[in-house]
Amino acid sequence: MWHLFLDHPLLVRLTGTKYACGRGGCGACTVMVSKHDPVSAKIRHFSITACLVPICSLYGAAVTTVEGIGSINTRLHPVQERIARSHGTQCGFCTPGMVMSMYTLLRNHLQPSEEQLMEALGGNLCRCTGYRPILASGRTFCVESAGCQKKRTGKCCLDLGGNDSSSLNRESDICTDLFVEEEFQPLDPTQELIFPPELLRMAKNPEKQTLTFHGERVTWISPGTLKDLLELKAKHPEAPLILGNTSLGPAMKSQGRVHPILLSPARISELSMVFKTSDGLTIGAGCSLAQVKDILAEQVSELPEEKTQTYRALLKHLKSLAGQQIRNMASLGGHVISRHCYSDLNPILVVGNATLNLISEEGTRQIPLNDHFLAGLASADLKPEEILESVYIPHSQKWEFVSAFRQAQCQQNALADVSAGMRVILEEATDTIKELSLSYGGVGEATIGAHKSCQQLIGRPWNEPMLEEACRLLLEEVSLPGWAPGGRVEFKRTLVVSFFFKFYLEVLQELKKLVKVSDSHHYPEISDRFLSALEDFPVTGPRGVQRYQSVDSHQSLQDPVGRPIMHLSGLKHATGEAIFCDDIPMVDRELFMVLVTSTKAHAKIISIDLSEALELPGVVDVITAEDIPGTNGAKDDKLLAVDEVLCVGQIICAVVAETDVQAKRAIEKIKITYKDLEPIIFTINDAIKHNSFLCPEKKLEQGNIEEAFEKVDQIVEGEVHVGGQEHFYMETQRVIVIPKAEDKELDIYVSTQDPAHVQKTVSSTLNIPINRITCHVKRVGGGFGGKVGRPAVFGAIAAVGAIKTGRPIRLVLDREDDMLITGGRHPLFGKYKVGFMNNGRIKALDIECFINGGCTLDDSEQVTEFLILKLENAYKIRNLRFRGRACMTNLPSNTAFRGFGFPQGTLITESCITAVAAKCGLLPEEIREKNMYKTVDKTIYKQAFSPETLIRCWNECLDKSSFHSRRMQVEEFNKKNYWKKKGIAIIPMKFSVGFAATSYHQAAALVHIYTDGSVLVTHGGNELGQGIHTKMLQVASRELKLPMSYMHVCETSTATVPNTIATAASIGSDVNGKAVQNACQILLKRLEPIIKKNPGGTWEDWIEAAFEQRISLSATGYFRGYKAYMDWEKGEGDPFPYYVYGAACSEVEIDCLTGAHKVEGSFIQGMGLYTTEELKYSPEGVLYSRGPDEYKIPTITDVPEEFNVSLLPSSQTPLTIYSSKGLGESGMFLGSSVFFAITDAVAAACKERDIVEDFIVKSPATPEQVRMACADRFTEMIPRDDPKTFKPWSIPIA
Ligand SMILES: Cc1cc2nc3c(=O)[nH]c(=O)nc-3n(C[C@H](O)[C@H](O)[C@H](O)COP(=O)(O)OP(=O)(O)OC[C@H]3O[C@@H](n4cnc5c(N)ncnc54)[C@H](O)[C@@H]3O)c2cc1C
Ligand code: FES
Ligand code: FES
Repeated sequence: MWHLFLDHPLLVRLTGTKYACGRGGCGACTVMVSKHDPVSAKIRHFSITACLVPICSLYGAAVTTVEGIGSINTRLHPVQERIARSHGTQCGFCTPGMVMSMYTLLRNHLQPSEEQLMEALGGNLCRCTGYRPILASGRTFCVESAGCQKKRTGKCCLDLGGNDSSSLNRESDICTDLFVEEEFQPLDPTQELIFPPELLRMAKNPEKQTLTFHGERVTWISPGTLKDLLELKAKHPEAPLILGNTSLGPAMKSQGRVHPILLSPARISELSMVFKTSDGLTIGAGCSLAQVKDILAEQVSELPEEKTQTYRALLKHLKSLAGQQIRNMASLGGHVISRHCYSDLNPILVVGNATLNLISEEGTRQIPLNDHFLAGLASADLKPEEILESVYIPHSQKWEFVSAFRQAQCQQNALADVSAGMRVILEEATDTIKELSLSYGGVGEATIGAHKSCQQLIGRPWNEPMLEEACRLLLEEVSLPGWAPGGRVEFKRTLVVSFFFKFYLEVLQELKKLVKVSDSHHYPEISDRFLSALEDFPVTGPRGVQRYQSVDSHQSLQDPVGRPIMHLSGLKHATGEAIFCDDIPMVDRELFMVLVTSTKAHAKIISIDLSEALELPGVVDVITAEDIPGTNGAKDDKLLAVDEVLCVGQIICAVVAETDVQAKRAIEKIKITYKDLEPIIFTINDAIKHNSFLCPEKKLEQGNIEEAFEKVDQIVEGEVHVGGQEHFYMETQRVIVIPKAEDKELDIYVSTQDPAHVQKTVSSTLNIPINRITCHVKRVGGGFGGKVGRPAVFGAIAAVGAIKTGRPIRLVLDREDDMLITGGRHPLFGKYKVGFMNNGRIKALDIECFINGGCTLDDSEQVTEFLILKLENAYKIRNLRFRGRACMTNLPSNTAFRGFGFPQGTLITESCITAVAAKCGLLPEEIREKNMYKTVDKTIYKQAFSPETLIRCWNECLDKSSFHSRRMQVEEFNKKNYWKKKGIAIIPMKFSVGFAATSYHQAAALVHIYTDGSVLVTHGGNELGQGIHTKMLQVASRELKLPMSYMHVCETSTATVPNTIATAASIGSDVNGKAVQNACQILLKRLEPIIKKNPGGTWEDWIEAAFEQRISLSATGYFRGYKAYMDWEKGEGDPFPYYVYGAACSEVEIDCLTGAHKVEGSFIQGMGLYTTEELKYSPEGVLYSRGPDEYKIPTITDVPEEFNVSLLPSSQTPLTIYSSKGLGESGMFLGSSVFFAITDAVAAACKERDIVEDFIVKSPATPEQVRMACADRFTEMIPRDDPKTFKPWSIPIA
């Protein structure tokens, strides 16, 4: 089937819309659709995810893409201008989607509220910015939020630029503004595109004729009348109705399901009708969930509360169901009929006694929306020729209470682990249960009703004994086996009863209100401490201040260093004109490549049968290891598997075809037979048992650890498990290889952090010299370490295909393949033993850790080294022993990821601190402070180190966060609330940037000045979103004393700057900046005599004169690198050029009944690592979490409610360029303050419940972990399975 996105951008050359998941889960492909609504006779504008929209469904609709609203060549739309100027773009891959979501919002609401803004952006993911600047840009369109009434009065903290007025006076050189709102062009609605008149004419005189579109495998039929639709349905009973395609589409894509005929009822107005009667509401099955939300909201505002209980419950879940785009597309009918077990609405509709109005040629009939229907029982289902016309939802009545509950990994845009609808009717003015219905989603193959339990409770009073009995009955009836798909079994069991407890309290609370009217009965009292169980966490737009040092007032205005300069490509990101690898137009005779990967974790390849695949239309060839003319990777890390596979996801061969669809069809026809091999190792524990390691142990030691342990007051031993992390760069791995006609030359366009490595690998794979291969990197849609090593593999395989076929090859990984193949952050298991005095002074620390490296070495040895080198973090402990090993397992190889082991390892160190605090009865911050470096000293690897800046950061953070008063407030809150707890943590950080080898710090640049005075800067760094090109031009601008407008960077290319080092380790801007500086200084020196001779001349005059005088206007700049080495034999060295320091304070609130948490301060990607991002593997080593549906990176609604960032003023190091700081990676770890704040809150709950701490720390602190740690009467009730009696759905690998 043709999709709006998939098949068109390259053909119509509208490449602004981006493709990042193909499942409707990320919002990168958002566009606006405008349609004439026959019912309201108005034009409806709504956002959709283009990747799920069949092109035929757009008959009569206007589609606006990001290109349609503005361009840098004509006029920018204010949304585009503001997102760029507010620094809301980094890599820019999510930006067009963000722009279109915001644009659509503004087409519907000229001055939206903040809530509407959050709602509009809830379905758009961004992996770079942390969302704050994107929201800041959106806020400029909003009606002034009620958040701060003092804004712009001069009294608001934002106006003052600090948290309090005193700080303003102290710090007059501190800035908080990152953009000037007054400079933005106003939003002028008269300038917007109009709905095309011909479409309006069409809509007003609708075609009644049936429209048929024939595709290669699918026929799309769109009848114009209900009668025709029913006739067609009778003729093609097996053909599905296609509405939003949000259920059918993903199934067709992931399961390869093909429906030869699709019936589209989009033009049938009867399916969009809404009828309001005195007893209920009938909503057309064709209404979108967004429309349903509006209809329900209207009903709620019109009717008395007692009648709208079901509507309110539905509204609550409609707010968090998917993102705005999906709600705009998905229909009520599609939702009901899909009967997803995770459905948020069906459990409520079931308990609300909804009825389905069916229609066929035979006539109409009604069936109840009940469990039998949802279980798909034939007797309770639609007949094949019937369709759902509408859904009737009755009003509720007095003494009837309906509630809805859900718990997911994130607050919004995440499928629920468990959802529930609950309804009770009490005998009038009593507490006797007259009717009870409870329905659960997520706990079985279908939505399940708890009929037996409900029946048994009828007649019981609504009190504690009833609650107790209900929980017992529910756990019996709504039972989940230990092996249940989706896992999290004990958590789900706990939610089943925890939700009922919440319902119990909610009803009591409601009754209390009613009692005032008729106080003939007394209901049980709810203790004030329990009331917090009733409050859901609100979705609020984050607030915060960014504080940085302003430039010296004497600095020339044209000198951009130190100023918040917009990303060079910011405006192009926002208009969709920034070209990413896959936006490059199709090259003549280009072919597509799709990879075939192993389905076995460890096996011998017995045979590969390509014959059927090769016969398919469009298939040109299949590339195997035998086609490689040169070296097939390394001995233990082959590009294409030979004889044996070591993990699921290992690349075996690659299909090359005329189109990507043909290539994808062909891979299903390749037959590979395997013979399983032993051992199969997935977990770190198994690797240790099998002595399966990738490299020797790395060890550092100081003092005398054994002796120290003998002298301490106390010793604690504990374990830390940290899960892996997926890079989830928005732009998946992609490469285009173009073979040239002459001399075996190849041009490679690739999304990489290390083009030289791609070039080298292609050279050795093809056995041709490096000088024939040119790699080009214009920009990369996010890397985070994931595009350091892997792109070379994809580049080399594509290059083999290009050489074999003699044709250009395009290889673009789907999100599923990318997540399956590429590996990510290393999961870690650490054991510690810490010896300390009763006052909290740590005397000895012994840490042994293991990382899960996967099946090949990759960067695992270096990650282990970095982990060990950085384990001590900010603490000076005299007696230390750190040991680390990388385990070899049968999982995809893990690789570089922001922080390179530091975020995982240091979690062990910080966990030791919290363990010591717990044992000493002191606060963790006291232990941290007590053990921190205080004076100039030596690190464990004997590098001299001064903690002055570290201490300043710590003190500033304590001060700016008002830590101590917050700590008191947290304690006060915890005393008053039993079911909600707050936690607070402050974490110091000492992070070393760079590589432990001098040669890895070298960098080069090439700067040309052309005869018109314009300057072209090229350097060895790659633009990953960090703005390296912008920074390089800031350097060149200062050095040449020339405005940035004279300068340009076109791309990074191995032809202009050779032998480059990966843009990684937070050092890219530092070292390349030095090289650019060097080149500019050389040029300026050459120009000096000319300038001296004509000091009043212009730049252009000087350049002209230089040319006349035959002075070279091109220079190579070079930086030899920082001195860095490490001698592992001796355990000493000078491995890092410099350190960056930080401290972060976070405050969180947890819901002890559901495990949900609400964060009030952190760094977003790190927060994801430590709280929501969870990779799930099957017992066979297959990665389940392969897309945004299953793998939850933070969304806009997860951003801390208050998020303040301060850059320490006057902290300079002479080593770096203009005091730059390598900040790319360090922020990641600061996100751990969220983790420790959650731990703090959990500890408060445990203390109250007298639970003894066990010192086993598990990250991420997901709602599941939090809920199960806050043990209570409900967790005690649930049945526990003996793990030996079943095969679990997933296995932990850390
Ligand atoms: C990214 C994403 C996130 C999601 N998040 C959530 C979530 O958080 N919570 C949740 O509950 N759901 C979620 N969903 C699921 C979503 O709610 C359903 O996919 C959606 O409601 C289906 O509606 P549709 O119109 O797209 O159905 P379609 O895909 O068009 O059709 C689905 C099925 O319904 C049948 N059908 C449709 N209309 C009729 C009719 N009138 N008569 C007879 N048969 C009909 C079709 O034949 C087909 O078999 C999510 C989906 C996506 C893609
Ligand atoms: S690409 Fe369409 S939503 Fe992700
Ligand atoms: S800027 Fe949002 S994903 Fe990179």
